[in-house]
Amino acid sequence: MNFLGIETSCDETAAAVVRDGRKILSNVVASSLKEHQRYGGVVPEVASRRQLEYIQPVVDEALEKAGLALADIDAFAVTKEPGLIGSLLVGVSFARALSAALDKPLVEIDHIEAHVYANFLTGEPPQLPAVALVVSGGHTDLYSVRDIRAFRRIGRTRDDAVGEAFDKVARVLGLGYPGGPVIDRLAKSVPRTDVSFKCAALEGTLDFSFSGVKTAVLYHRQKHGSRNHYPVAAVARAFQESVVEILVIKALAACRKLKVQTLLVGGGVAANSALRQHLSGEAHKKRIKVYFPAMALCMDNAAMIAGLGFHSLN
Ligand code: KG4
Ligand code: ZN
Repeated sequence: MNFLGIETSCDETAAAVVRDGRKILSNVVASSLKEHQRYGGVVPEVASRRQLEYIQPVVDEALEKAGLALADIDAFAVTKEPGLIGSLLVGVSFARALSAALDKPLVEIDHIEAHVYANFLTGEPPQLPAVALVVSGGHTDLYSVRDIRAFRRIGRTRDDAVGEAFDKVARVLGLGYPGGPVIDRLAKSVPRTDVSFKCAALEGTLDFSFSGVKTAVLYHRQKHGSRNHYPVAAVARAFQESVVEILVIKALAACRKLKVQTLLVGGGVAANSALRQHLSGEAHKKRIKVYFPAMALCMDNAAMIAGLGFHSLN
């Protein structure tokens, strides 16, 4: 069954064709990221305008790369929520129009669940039940996943999302937007750091808080920023270490609490090399199998939407 997926929740316009929920025939992503960089974050108005411009060519390209015509598509899937309302509206309207015109089914998909589903698109499919850790620009949540269509939230951030914290800290350190990839790279350029930050523990809960560490970095910069050689890389590394530490602690605590041996990670921050390394190492010690999506499937994409769409219909 050929599914055409469409994803337009933020600044990416994406379309993909996936066969039977697993085989990626094409996966096309256009982005208005560059236009947002000077503002230090996504400007919703600009993002939705670009969605309108990009959607048709991106869908055309996804079909062309898959070597298929619209008539070969059996069903459509589109991101319903969460996301920027103006951007979402473009994808949803486009997909509804295609579905109506071609008289083929349409399933509307939750973006967060799709990020987790990205783990099922390559390699051996993970065993369920599992705990899912979703770490993106807009979300930091823990879920109990009994079935790929049955998610129950068991933890969440009480303030900033972790990706948002990366972006804001990068801004404080003058590193540009988006902050995650720059901090990841810069942290690797110093073997260790004397600076240290701590994320709120929120003991006894599976919740997160990242606003404190973000403010701690801001104060550090204000206090020491006038130094000749402010240690930007060391501060970036210390911030990243504090974030990775709490993500590892809470994700493994969730697995212990639910007595599950599978941990699925998803969202843009799942691309972070320190998180991938530390979480894999610590999970291994506890005999928990941890899954990260392939790098290209960590970021917003439509293959994860088309893939999960198949399971919603079958
Ligand atoms: O999932 P995503 O593409 O969009 C949302 O649904 O939010 O995630 C984007 C977020 C941004 O905040 C970006 O800074 C972060 O993912 N990110 C990273 C890395 N690559 C992207 N954060 C840490 N390390 C990375 N390597
Ligand atoms: Zn996302």
